[in-house]
Amino acid sequence: MSIDESQVAKDGVDPDEVPKRKLYTGAEIPAIGLGTFGSDRVSGEDIAKAVKGAIFVGYRHIDCASVYLNEHLVGESLKDVMKSGIKREELWITSKLWNDMHGEGDVLKACEKSLKDLKLDYLDLYLIHWPFPNYHEPGCDVTSRAPNAKPYIHKNYMKTWRQMEKLVEKGLVRHIGTSNMTIPKLKLVLRDAKIKPVCNEMELHPHFQQQEFFDFCIENNVQPIGFCPIGSPKRPDRDKTEEDTVDIEDPVIVKIAKRLNVHPAVVCVKWAVQRGHIPIPFSIHRNKYLSNLECTIKDPLTKEEMREIAGIDKNCRLIKGQVFLWEGAKSWEDLWDLDGEITH
Ligand SMILES: NC(=O)c1ccc[n+]([C@@H]2O[C@H](COP(=O)([O-])OP(=O)(O)OC[C@H]3O[C@@H](n4cnc5c(N)ncnc54)[C@H](OP(=O)(O)O)[C@@H]3O)[C@@H](O)[C@H]2O)c1
Repeated sequence: MSIDESQVAKDGVDPDEVPKRKLYTGAEIPAIGLGTFGSDRVSGEDIAKAVKGAIFVGYRHIDCASVYLNEHLVGESLKDVMKSGIKREELWITSKLWNDMHGEGDVLKACEKSLKDLKLDYLDLYLIHWPFPNYHEPGCDVTSRAPNAKPYIHKNYMKTWRQMEKLVEKGLVRHIGTSNMTIPKLKLVLRDAKIKPVCNEMELHPHFQQQEFFDFCIENNVQPIGFCPIGSPKRPDRDKTEEDTVDIEDPVIVKIAKRLNVHPAVVCVKWAVQRGHIPIPFSIHRNKYLSNLECTIKDPLTKEEMREIAGIDKNCRLIKGQVFLWEGAKSWEDLWDLDGEITH
């Protein structure tokens, strides 16, 4: 199909050519999206401008969240692009329920607020951002602990999930999903949900491949969406530790980037799409978000390169989630059920 030039920039990518993933509902989701979390260093206005720019170069999938505090600005961009002729049904818009809105009656309120801010009458996907109702101030220190923070309580999560299911029944949300889960937690949700999660958003990059969890999702028809696909090189300092490794400096990634004459970030995005999870890279810079999209339709990595990247996993989780810990928890590992059992 030829590109409609009123809707896609001359140097953009035809959205029809961008790979898609089929969900168990039969719906198709673009195999790459644009992240919108500015890591406290990029303004909401600049992010909203990038959303508009990204849609005009061919992105159709935008990853939003109320806690990014920019949905009202992103919504202006969505309104503008739709005014210019892009139809609502061509877009895939995700938002997320923040931790302080898990309570009875709160989920509908939170969803309505995101819809109002995004200027939409439905979301394509609504995720429970974290499986804990543990609130913390945006930007707070990683050592801070909310006094009423609790470990995962399945009964409570399912009460929140029931409210998510109601949003689907009301037509406010087309699909619902999870984020920052673990295998044992997701197993219980899959067992007890009336409407099963279509997607699980999780940290995925070459140095943190979560192969077992990735396979579990695929086997259970839960499409993985990968956040921090480039290893989030500009994440806030509070999310950095000395042990963290840097994906875009990995010799294997750098070697492949040289062969393709691209930035190592692009290799990370390519790997994600070819592996089968959906990366949601962030950048407000046109050349970067455009090259991330373009790379999904050309110069695939070879089988040997895919094998080499599979071999560089460092099990390096970057978003450790310390601020969600409860009093008495030992360390951030408690959030991630490392021994296969839910930590209480
Ligand atoms: N569900 C969750 O709990 C959760 C958690 C974290 C993130 N997320 C989502 O995931 C998205 C992505 O994660 P992230 O922003 O932390 O990390 P990321 O996408 O791995 O890394 C973003 C950084 O990579 C750089 N970059 C992007 N494309 C590039 C390219 N082609 N060449 C060179 N550099 C490039 C950008 O640099 P410049 O800024 O200089 O352009 C940007 O700062 C977020 O925006 C958010 O939507 C979700």
